[in-house]
Amino acid sequence: MAGPIPQHFIDDLLSRIDIVDVINARVTLKKSGSNYKACCPFHGEKTPSFTVSQTKQFYHCFGCNESGNAIGFLMAYDNMHFVDAIETLAESIGVEVPRDEKAAQVHNDSRPLYKLMEDVAHYYQTELRKKNEAIEYLKNRGLDGETAKHFGIGFAPDGWDALNKAFSDQEQALIKTGMLKRSDNGRVYQAFRNRIMFPIRDRRGRTIGFGGRVLSDEEPKYLNSPETPLFHKGSELYGLFEARKHAQDENMAIVVEGYMDVVALAQHGVNNAVATLGTAANQQHSEILFKVVPNIVFCFDGDKAGRSAAWRALVNTLPCLQDGRDAHFLFLPDGEDPDSVVSAGGQAAFKDLLSERQSIIDVMYQQLAADLDMSEIGGQATLADKAKPLLQTIPNGVYKQLATRRLERLIGLPMGSEQAGARSGAYSNRSYQTQSRSQPEQIKGMTAMSRAVMLLLQHPSIISTMQTDMLQFDQNIRGADVLQALINDCQQVPDISTARLLERFREDPNHGFLNQLAIKPYWPDNRELDAETAATEFAHSIDQLNQRSQKTEVDKLDASARTGLLSVKKKL
Ligand code: UTP
Ligand code: MN
Repeated sequence: MAGPIPQHFIDDLLSRIDIVDVINARVTLKKSGSNYKACCPFHGEKTPSFTVSQTKQFYHCFGCNESGNAIGFLMAYDNMHFVDAIETLAESIGVEVPRDEKAAQVHNDSRPLYKLMEDVAHYYQTELRKKNEAIEYLKNRGLDGETAKHFGIGFAPDGWDALNKAFSDQEQALIKTGMLKRSDNGRVYQAFRNRIMFPIRDRRGRTIGFGGRVLSDEEPKYLNSPETPLFHKGSELYGLFEARKHAQDENMAIVVEGYMDVVALAQHGVNNAVATLGTAANQQHSEILFKVVPNIVFCFDGDKAGRSAAWRALVNTLPCLQDGRDAHFLFLPDGEDPDSVVSAGGQAAFKDLLSERQSIIDVMYQQLAADLDMSEIGGQATLADKAKPLLQTIPNGVYKQLATRRLERLIGLPMGSEQAGARSGAYSNRSYQTQSRSQPEQIKGMTAMSRAVMLLLQHPSIISTMQTDMLQFDQNIRGADVLQALINDCQQVPDISTARLLERFREDPNHGFLNQLAIKPYWPDNRELDAETAATEFAHSIDQLNQRSQKTEVDKLDASARTGLLSVKKKL
């Protein structure tokens, strides 16, 4: 909605505010050693494990693993959009957020529109109370008043001009938000008539659009708000505002197809469901959800249409599967939807089905193998062929390796090193063990690359203690681009904080992984890692990277010599 805010402004902002002030204004912090502590606002706890580091300008909870910088905190704690978080921070130190003319206009115009949509939602709720038929309809579908109120469900009266009359001085704004329409002959009429109204709220709980359902079996069954300055259906999920906290508590978000599915599930105590708005789940939907919770379950009809919608969701979710995230699919019996399941069998019936969810990778191979004869070599080869491009969309990491290994098991053959990104196997966790140094247990399994990145993120200042020739490494190693970018940033801005470094990667697919590395404890007792150890270990990690790539070169030569591919010239 708003135009891009220059990266340099965000960077400068983060260097001028203090995360301790930002958080302390919302959650009372207590000084503890060099850090500040509190009981975590993101999960229930009695002993404080929520830690704020002033030097890193970063917060982290050892209990629930929430972490981020001041921007991330506002987004998580106040349910803000990125742009709103920036504005709030800028306002707190009295600076104006620079933005281009057009974006500024949209932004300035939006506030009254949000207010208007809120008022319209209230109006519909009031109208619902007057319309027995609508109340009866909701009751018949098993909803009680509390649930209806929780979701702000209302009713749009019949006729052409009820809304225009109720908001007679706001015609232009109502047209802008899609609530009123203008016909070809210039007559203005209300878009939703005689419908149950579901307000669609953004992540901050602001009403940005509506879905309206007929009371009978007329067509179309549902009408949705059109695209407006406030509402973009491809980047919104119905019920996310209401489900967010519950999803975090359950460590899982469920994606269903319809408004009524979300509401009926909540009525039966399943509060972590959201719905796409009449569109297939796209990559943005998955990203939005993964920012809230690491596990998504997609729930679809078991019929052909459901399978095909599931496939689109699957393809769109693979690129989001960084390590630490996972997705599952639940196919309901033919003709059922989550609403019908809970309405007939209550929460238990749905949870039973939920326990039978299948992993996204299993579903992928199943669908790909559906019309192949897997007892034939041809079938197995075709499966590998079809799977390869999909596997390649998964971000590099352990998840991708495991997904690839599963295919290997299915076809009974290791995928060649040139395939499916298995090249990374050369640098997999097991393949490089530190032999000589004694390191704390929890970082032993990490690759030298991950370790180098982790150490630099946690202590950006160590870069100033390194000589340039110590910072040379093979740029082909997986993750080298990220490490190099971090090194460059640290060199350019000598006092850069962890928070500012991470902010530069917010839009990067590795952002989640980098966040994890930034908070990963080095010592078993979560004791703070000191700069000197960080510097020593960092130098050692780079050293290992270099040894490793020399060894790989030698291995490659060995291998080609063995297969007789090495030309005499190359040997000499
Ligand atoms: P369904 O047709 O599966 O309906 O539409 P449902 O959710 O089971 O609805 P109920 O139970 O009959 O009330 C699923 C979703 O597809 C979109 C809506 O977002 C709906 O929630 N849809 C459906 C439309 O946008 N327009 C339609 O005409 C139908
Ligand atoms: Mn239904």
